[in-house]
Amino acid sequence: MTPPAVIHRWWQTGIIYQIYPRSFADTNRDGVGDLAGIRERLPYLESLRIDAIWISPIYPSPMADFGYDISDYTEIHPLFGSLGDFDALLKDAHERGMRVILDFVPNHSSNQHPWFIDSRSDRSSDRREWYIWRDPAPGGGPPTNWRSVFGGSAWTFDPATGQYYYHAFLPEQPDLNWRNPEVERAMLEVLRFWLDRGVDGFRVDVIWHLIKSEQMLDNPPNPDYEPHQSPYDELLPVYTVDQPEVHGIIRTIRELFDAYDGERVLIGEIYLPVGRLISYYGENGGGVHFPYNFQLLTLPWSAREIAAAIDAYEALLPEYAWPNWVLGNHDKSRIATRVGEAQARVAAMMLLTLRGTATIYYGDEIGMTDVPIPPDRVQDPFEKNVPGRGLGRDPERTPMQWDATRHAGFSEVSPWLPIAPAAHGTVNVASQAEDPRSMLALHRRLIELRRAEEALHAGTYSALEAAGDLIAFARKSDGSLFVIVLNLGSSAATYPMPSPEFRGRIELSTHLDREAEPVAGRLRLRPDEGVVIRIG
Ligand code: NOJ
Repeated sequence: MTPPAVIHRWWQTGIIYQIYPRSFADTNRDGVGDLAGIRERLPYLESLRIDAIWISPIYPSPMADFGYDISDYTEIHPLFGSLGDFDALLKDAHERGMRVILDFVPNHSSNQHPWFIDSRSDRSSDRREWYIWRDPAPGGGPPTNWRSVFGGSAWTFDPATGQYYYHAFLPEQPDLNWRNPEVERAMLEVLRFWLDRGVDGFRVDVIWHLIKSEQMLDNPPNPDYEPHQSPYDELLPVYTVDQPEVHGIIRTIRELFDAYDGERVLIGEIYLPVGRLISYYGENGGGVHFPYNFQLLTLPWSAREIAAAIDAYEALLPEYAWPNWVLGNHDKSRIATRVGEAQARVAAMMLLTLRGTATIYYGDEIGMTDVPIPPDRVQDPFEKNVPGRGLGRDPERTPMQWDATRHAGFSEVSPWLPIAPAAHGTVNVASQAEDPRSMLALHRRLIELRRAEEALHAGTYSALEAAGDLIAFARKSDGSLFVIVLNLGSSAATYPMPSPEFRGRIELSTHLDREAEPVAGRLRLRPDEGVVIRIG
């Protein structure tokens, strides 16, 4: 008997495109992107054939952390538009066959959120326990040595009520107390508000931070700390993240999602070693649909290290757990800067041929690089608090490069962050659209191939032996087999095909020029070249 066909959900086979809304498209001439801008650019996204957009926070916010400090969870910041603009965007995206994922930031609110204002107003306030308040340590000073991710103590003293409150990030981002059932109830309401409106899913900000230990114990020193790291990394966050109770909360959130139509996706933002990461799929997959897998963002770009990481991840994933891969986001240096322009093409091929959901960061499809930010234009609080260590995130958040005009087609006025000089050359959508060998053209071909071939969007993965700078793997589904060989080095290399049966034709090269070339025996790869070979 043939086993029943496995049904894959849209978020499994699909490609997610992350939009940092401040930097995508500005229609109201204030130098900051908006919802109407995203809506205007939907035809581009549709033509790229991505399946969903994930939009970083668009809610009212004092912008201490550029939207990750929310002062109203169920409204739209006027900078971005209105609820009406949001509904129009959602409708248009749906009509064009694209889903919309929003950012959910449940770990902390803004200190301007009425909940916090109330909580802070008095020790006996009804909302006092909505946040994490503690008395000073016996001799005075903060209750523990816990650090803020953005530098300094994670405790801020409130002189009016004589206690400290905890904030994993800025003092303007007090952590909510998820041990309080009222907080959970309020947050589930927030999710219902958006899911009822038709939102297709959420990326949940720092989900592994949600619960902190109840024991007020100091975090131990990190024996592997290196001085170029952030001061936060000097301690191991043993008592502040990845606490066992977090999984109960995630299960409750997941149940809410499942009560809809089974089509809403729950994604967790989690930076943890893979062994810990997979626990977030939950028992029997009752946790997040997938925790973001950031290994391609954090590992050195070395073929042997990455091959080993891919295989270890594949081996560790339980049968119910769906993989995913990410090359860039608004918190990390862009891929084209980390690995170089030529190698970024190999990275794109890797992202779009590995097994699992792929997330593309806006602009990476045209090879945008980090933009150096002059000191007087720094916006990111992380850079302001811990300057000079390359921790600031403005360089990867600069405006989308649509064309070679003065403001790159992003805006008619000077934007909130500088435009990359490269925008005025060929690193922009308009000029790459004209060039059949551009990074954009490569993305279009990769996405087209991935969509057309079940082996690539839903097939199995098997590692193939490779040495030196090469990574090789096979993707297979009923009736079709592809071999992908990636040269992560800048010298030419030769890959011996695994056996005489492995013969076929090149379907796609990162150089966009070897289509249909026969492959048998030994495959020659140029520097920084990747190829997809159709076997048979
Ligand atoms: C993770 C987000 O991606 C980052 O941009 C933000 O600063 C922190 N969480 C705090 O919300």
